[in-house]
Amino acid sequence: MKIAVVGTGYVGLVTGTCFAETGNDVTCVDIDVNKVNKLTNGEITIYEPGLEKLFLRNLKEERLHFTTDLSAAIKDAVIIFLALPTPPGEDGSADLKYVLGVADDLGKIIKNYKVIVDKSTVPVGTAEKVHSAIAKNSKSDFDVVSNPEFLREGVAVEDFMKPDRVVVGTNSEKARKLMSDLYAPFVRQGNPVIFMDERSAELTKYAANSFLAAKISFMNEIARLCELLDADVDMVRRGIGSDDRIGKRFLFPGIGYGGSCFPKDVQALVKSANDVKYDFKILNAVMNINEGQKLYLISGIKKYFNNDLKGKKFALWGLAFKPNTDDIREAPSLYMIDALVKEGATVSAFDPEAMNNVKKLLGDKIEYAESQYMALANADALIIATEWNEFRTPDFAKIAASLKNKAIFDGRNLFDLAAMRELGFYYQSIGRAIVK
Ligand SMILES: NC(=O)c1ccc[n+]([C@@H]2O[C@H](COP(=O)([O-])OP(=O)(O)OC[C@H]3O[C@@H](n4cnc5c(N)ncnc54)[C@H](O)[C@@H]3O)[C@@H](O)[C@H]2O)c1
Repeated sequence: MKIAVVGTGYVGLVTGTCFAETGNDVTCVDIDVNKVNKLTNGEITIYEPGLEKLFLRNLKEERLHFTTDLSAAIKDAVIIFLALPTPPGEDGSADLKYVLGVADDLGKIIKNYKVIVDKSTVPVGTAEKVHSAIAKNSKSDFDVVSNPEFLREGVAVEDFMKPDRVVVGTNSEKARKLMSDLYAPFVRQGNPVIFMDERSAELTKYAANSFLAAKISFMNEIARLCELLDADVDMVRRGIGSDDRIGKRFLFPGIGYGGSCFPKDVQALVKSANDVKYDFKILNAVMNINEGQKLYLISGIKKYFNNDLKGKKFALWGLAFKPNTDDIREAPSLYMIDALVKEGATVSAFDPEAMNNVKKLLGDKIEYAESQYMALANADALIIATEWNEFRTPDFAKIAASLKNKAIFDGRNLFDLAAMRELGFYYQSIGRAIVK
């Protein structure tokens, strides 16, 4: 099948590459000339495990193409995916200017039947708006389908190739058949393609992300309570996670959820609810808890240093909002950096993949170390903000020898309390006793 993907970011590039991998002819379009040039020349633009191999193979086999020319990209395509940004607007709602802008353009250029698929996360009613924006300029036959994306950065290729489910919102039989054929190779093991109306599909995505965010905020509150009641959140997590109704995943407390999706999607769903005069109480609490959690570890650090961080230097391990990605959008590390620098401290950071993105954003606001151990030089303490695997069993002797104080503040609960006690560290994590 001939397919176009408009927007070649984290979702668009994975979508385009994976559809090419199952034999489709895919053209990805982006307005970022630099990005398109790099991709055309075989240079991958994001870090995503497993993606580069697939990308290079399909580029070589000429099933994957990149262009800045929307008309050329969609000319022969039957299905056009929109994988465009939907950032938060000033009032918290999803800003639809990219999606509706492209819909407007498509109306002027489509000449024969197309299925336009919204893969961006968009509020309920967007499919209808996209339909109107296209219909305004077009006499051609077309359908608009909502097909929200559930991939997780860090395991995006696996998620796309073997999705738990595919949600397709459409009332058109013709579009339904085309979407079924396209997704058939991805659901051979029997995972469902769930068809529904457009509005329900749009809400499904927000409901999924908001529920997961709620799980995280709930565990962060349980962690706070554990500290006050002398319980251990790791034990509580294991105790409740083995209940099938609760499940083991997304029960890890930490320094708040971040990334390009949860913060904006929870906010946008609250805004959608407000627009229809519904007060979504749980989600307001979820957001408030998350705000407080981002700087919770900083309060522990300040206490340890008697409220005086001026002139102190902190080694920071982890910048990406989660491991196995270079994505730093809404990363908790950035909030911590900001707070530390405001207190007069300096930061020497290391991340296996996200350093370049942080350099572009923060410039010389912080130092960038070449390795996790180089970040420790002359530092007063170590802070851990992302649970990269390589941070899990570090050389503690090296850490102890480099730091001015044997103090670790761990926002991801990487280490065993007994081991830290034995090693003689001051060790503060989340929802567990402080090792002194
Ligand atoms: N990143 C995720 O993990 C994830 C997961 C599921 C859903 N989503 C949703 O998918 C959508 C895209 O997210 P993303 O993370 O891929 O964003 P992104 O910022 O990485 O990529 C968006 C791309 O669109 C391009 N673009 C902007 N305007 C354009 C235009 N007029 N024509 C062509 N290209 C244009 C940008 O240059 C960029 O390359 C969002 O709605 C997001 O909420 C993201």
